[in-house]
Formats: sequence, C-alpha cells, structure tokens
Amino acid sequence: MLSLSVKEAIYAWYQKNGRHDLPWRQTTDAYKIYLSEIMLQQTQVKTVLERFYFPFLERFPTLQSVAEAPLDDVLKMWEGLGYYTRARNLHHTALTCNGILPKNPEELGGLKGIGKSTAHAICSFAYHQALPILDANVKRVLCRYFALNVKDEKVLWEKAWKLLHVKHPYEHNQAMMDIGALVCTPKNPNCLECPLNFTCKGKDTPENYPQSLKKAKVPIKRRFALVALKEGKLGLIQRKERLLHGLWGFVQVDECPENAEILGKVTHTYSHFKLELEVVKCDLHVKVDDYFTPEQIATLALSTVDKKILQLPAMMGNVTPATPK
Ligand code: ADE
Repeated sequence: MLSLSVKEAIYAWYQKNGRHDLPWRQTTDAYKIYLSEIMLQQTQVKTVLERFYFPFLERFPTLQSVAEAPLDDVLKMWEGLGYYTRARNLHHTALTCNGILPKNPEELGGLKGIGKSTAHAICSFAYHQALPILDANVKRVLCRYFALNVKDEKVLWEKAWKLLHVKHPYEHNQAMMDIGALVCTPKNPNCLECPLNFTCKGKDTPENYPQSLKKAKVPIKRRFALVALKEGKLGLIQRKERLLHGLWGFVQVDECPENAEILGKVTHTYSHFKLELEVVKCDLHVKVDDYFTPEQIATLALSTVDKKILQLPAMMGNVTPATPK
C-alpha cells in the first residue's frame, strides 16, 4: 500500500488544476463518456472538442440512435477523424448491446473496440467504480514514477492498481490523464508542478523512463489514384480493405496507366506508412462502383486523402466539387 499522501496530492491537484470543463467530464451519460473515450483513443483533445464531439452527438444523441442508423451515416460523421475501425466498432457495439451499455467492466471490455482501460475509464467516469486506467499517457507517468524501464502491461496494471485512490477513482483517473497530458509530458516534463514529485523515483531523469525504442521510419507507398469521369460525374469505389472499409474514394493502382494525364500529387501519413499518390485522369477501363455528381459526393464519407484529391486545383477543370467540410 502506498502512502495515502501521494494519492491525496493527486486528488488535490485535480481539484485545483484539472480540466473540469471538458464536456465529457460534465456528464454522467455512459454513452457520451464512451464516445469521448473512443474519439480520444487516437485523436487529440483539441481536435475532438473543436470538430467532432458535438456534431456527432447532435446527429446521434443516444447509443440507440447509433444502432438505428446505417453504418454509412456513422462513417459520414466520423469523416476526417481517421482510424475508421473505431466508427465501425461503435456501430457494431451499439447493435450488439441494443443501445444500452453494460455497467460491468468485464462485459464492457468484451465489446468490440473497448479494451480493458477504456472499460475502466467508462466505469470509473460514469459510475465511480474503483478501477484504474492505463492509456499511453498514464503508462508514461507510471513508468517515471516507479522508474520502470520497460512498458510491461502486467507490471503497469499492478502499479496502476497500487496508485489508485479507491475513494475517488473518477478524480484520480481524470487527474492521471491530465498529468500525463499537461505535466508529465514526453519532452520537457514540468516536474516542479507535478503532484507526484515528492516520491517520484524517476524525477531526476524522467526522459529515461520508459527506455525509448528507436522508432522505425515509416515506409513510403507510391501509388496512382485514377480520376474516372463520365458526363461530368466522378467514378468512385466503396473501399473493402480493412483500414478504410466502407469509405468511398478513387480507385488506386500500383502502375501508372498508359497515356494518363497527370492532375497532381497528394500525400497522407497513416500510422504505419506514408502514402504518396500521383493523381491521374483515366477514363478508360476503370472499374468503379458508381458515378457521382459533386453534390452527391458531398453526402458520402470519404477518407482525408480522397478529399485532398477533390481539392486539387486541376480537378476544378474537370468537375467543380461542392466544397468538402
Ligand atoms: N483522453 C482519453 N480520455 C480522456 C479524458 N477523459 N479526458 C481527457 N483526455 C482524455
């Protein structure tokens, strides 16, 4: 058992410095908390807050409304947020649990897209259940506090349990997230402002914990995007591959078709590779699912890279797409 004082220090720090006004901290609605956790898994608070959280809740105010909607509508509201598996899992989960989330962390953690830490976050934030969380920021805080070189899941869960303030799990977990995001940052951590600093084992060399594994450079994939035009409409496919499943976009190929007219170049960095796309006009022999007017395209869910193609200056001579959001 750790001394109560570090737990109390974290609690007091949160009361004074926590980001209490974040909208998902102003609600006890498990669906709204769940949605925020999913959006925040791979996206920064600022982006979620400014562009995605409120419009999504406006369109889907309850989990039941997600369950009743077609997946395409959910993907449309997720458009631009990336990591679309999150949206597909959300829709799947809404259907599986008939619009009502279970309150039990094991059951919650068994739903698609909800891991153990997210399940604990939902249960502690919505129901004040005494369960710790372990997201990337919290892992860094724990590694430094306990001077752990390696991020071993089992050890980190043990430490997270050890540090948890069981009387105030809500505040404790939100505090750990805020400390990770605002104080115990990857570079230049502000140890002087940290409520854990008195007993932190890593405070003299925080950057040493956990040991950094040199990140491999992401490979570059060079491909061609085909702009197929018919009577002023653009030919698109609905993607089948895992990453972008369900989203609409331009056909992509590895080899440049003959006599293709070059319209421009777009790039996009995904988590595991960078995509460099040469965009070419190619009306012949392109197998598309359908042709759409710019107005129709504006209602479809497209990935960011396909939106970048629509915005190329050279596209204006071919079609005049409605300004994408
Ligand atoms: N990231 C994940 N969950 C969060 C939360 N509840 N508040 C702030 N950032 C978060």
